[in-house]
Amino acid sequence: MNAPPATTATKGTRTAARVAGAVKVYGAGDTAVRALDGIDVTFPAGRFTAIMGPSGSGKSTLMHCAAGLDTLTSGAAFIGDTELGTLDDRRLTLLRRDRIGFVFQAFNLVPTLTVAENITLPMDLAGRGRGRRGDGRGEGRGDGRRDGSSGEWIDALVEVVGLRDRLHHRPAELSGGQQQRVAVARAFAGRPDVVFADEPTGNLDSRSGEEVLNLLGRAVRRMDRTVVMVTHDPVAAAHADEVVFLADGRLVDRMESPTADRVLDRLKAFDGTFDSKGAPS
Ligand SMILES: Nc1ncnc2c1ncn2[C@@H]1O[C@H](COP(=O)(O)OP(=O)(O)OP(=O)(O)O)[C@@H](O)[C@H]1O
Ligand SMILES: [Mg+2]
Repeated sequence: MNAPPATTATKGTRTAARVAGAVKVYGAGDTAVRALDGIDVTFPAGRFTAIMGPSGSGKSTLMHCAAGLDTLTSGAAFIGDTELGTLDDRRLTLLRRDRIGFVFQAFNLVPTLTVAENITLPMDLAGRGRGRRGDGRGEGRGDGRRDGSSGEWIDALVEVVGLRDRLHHRPAELSGGQQQRVAVARAFAGRPDVVFADEPTGNLDSRSGEEVLNLLGRAVRRMDRTVVMVTHDPVAAAHADEVVFLADGRLVDRMESPTADRVLDRLKAFDGTFDSKGAPS
């Protein structure tokens, strides 16, 4: 589960995403909320990072700003070497589409499309991949000369998410856990630089949640992907290579090779120091 030191050293040198001096203020005057209060954090490529902290500590805000879904009040957010603040709306939209994957608490699948169609939707929208209305088994094989075949990639993804026998079902015919696995496959379909997940197991029972977390972990370790996940759950966070802790819009701690017990202890320590609204019961 934990990344070996050598992996950390080599993979840690590439940065998938980062924010520097990140400040986000919502509203103005008396009602202004400083959701991010000067955060510097790097999300290394090939790693699984979890973001934790009490409710209202700025986890979602950090994720949204790092992913270009929202803009910082001051400071800078980068995907790779690209500073998001320098992009116009069109370029930002393209960057989000081509270089970032998203998984949300609500699965957000398109109900009228099959599993296979949902998985390849981002690529279809981008005009990439071939045979994308097919069964995901290699109709696109051979078309991806630059970075391998998208057909093979989708095929491997379908295998990893374990949905081969559900490819022609529609979301309504799947369990919540299966739907989230489709959402995870969709997030990785376009081989983005980084997948951001906000409470991806928040709506799932513990077993389905565990499957989704294993899936995220496998994508990072076997497929060399990068995942940044917001979670309240110490068990979920223990799937990550590293946990970063936020409190009151600040980064207050980091933990390598987390275990659920150590994460829980760390969160309990917030109780004495910080508002504990979000501490797990
Ligand atoms: N659109 C918004 N307008 C005004 N205030 C906002 C907005 N979004 C978030 N906030 C405020 O910013 C702070 C951080 O919110 P954020 O959603 O990032 O917290 P969080 O750590 O994700 O919390 P949770 O664990 O409950 O999801 C909170 O005080 C919140 O009320
Ligand atoms: Mg949140």
